[in-house]
Amino acid sequence: MSYRIETYPTRLIDVWTLADGRRVTLRPVLPQDAELEQALVRSLSPASRYQRFFAPIRELPADWLQRMTQVDYHRHQALIVESFSGEQAIAVAEARFVVDESGQQGEFAVVVADDWQRLGLARRLLESLMRSAAEEGLQRLVGDVLATNTAMLALVRGLGFRVLPHPDGGAQIVRVQRDLQALRGALLDPAPGRAAPAARVDALPAAAVAALRAAAVTSTPTAME
Ligand SMILES: CC(C)(COP(=O)(O)OP(=O)(O)OC[C@H]1O[C@@H](n2cnc3c(N)ncnc32)[C@H](O)[C@@H]1OP(=O)(O)O)[C@@H](O)C(=O)NCCC(=O)NCCS
Repeated sequence: MSYRIETYPTRLIDVWTLADGRRVTLRPVLPQDAELEQALVRSLSPASRYQRFFAPIRELPADWLQRMTQVDYHRHQALIVESFSGEQAIAVAEARFVVDESGQQGEFAVVVADDWQRLGLARRLLESLMRSAAEEGLQRLVGDVLATNTAMLALVRGLGFRVLPHPDGGAQIVRVQRDLQALRGALLDPAPGRAAPAARVDALPAAAVAALRAAAVTSTPTAME
């Protein structure tokens, strides 16, 4: 099956250095990231996998993997964080939202590899996701979180989400919700160096992705706040 990307949102690309010195790249996902995504999911502890997928899966079925890496960057936005060991890239975190039928809200999820947790990756990913959702004109981001997932609940509370009973009832899962309207103005103010327009993907061939990876290995680090 052929797949064509109309635009690749380069403005979301970010390279930075974590507090422990490791350098990472955050960028929108590409179809060729399927293996990276699968390796990330396989690497997760059973607890992290369950908290992310609410099911005892070991890896992603092929059709999920395809849907998760072939996105349109509008109704389905997905971001991946890569780290590099020499030329070898590994995915250490990912986050996404999918716009629901109302067209008003995006349903989001996030996961960080166990060895990379508590370094600020999820916070950074969700901030980028909120910015992207606001740019798409969405009213809110919502997510389903296990009521026992104290790490996730602390994270989203810190980002201004409300924690609500789940609309389907039941006590095991709660709904977290972040209204974006009040933030729209601030989120859409382009931060310095972040205002690059989306590039047609034909203008971002494999060589450009390789250059981006090289930049993550060699460029001057920017300290993570
Ligand atoms: C929840 C999760 C995404 C957090 O990712 P992370 O990159 O470790 O989070 P961050 O480092 O950005 O943490 C941001 C804040 O969240 C809170 N937090 C994160 N992990 C926490 C933990 N284990 N215990 C308590 N608070 C925690 C803290 O307030 C933290 O800020 P601080 O480090 O300044 O105290 C990660 O633990 C994970 O992937 N869990 C498995 C998958 C999952 O639960 N997904 C959510 C369902 S969609």
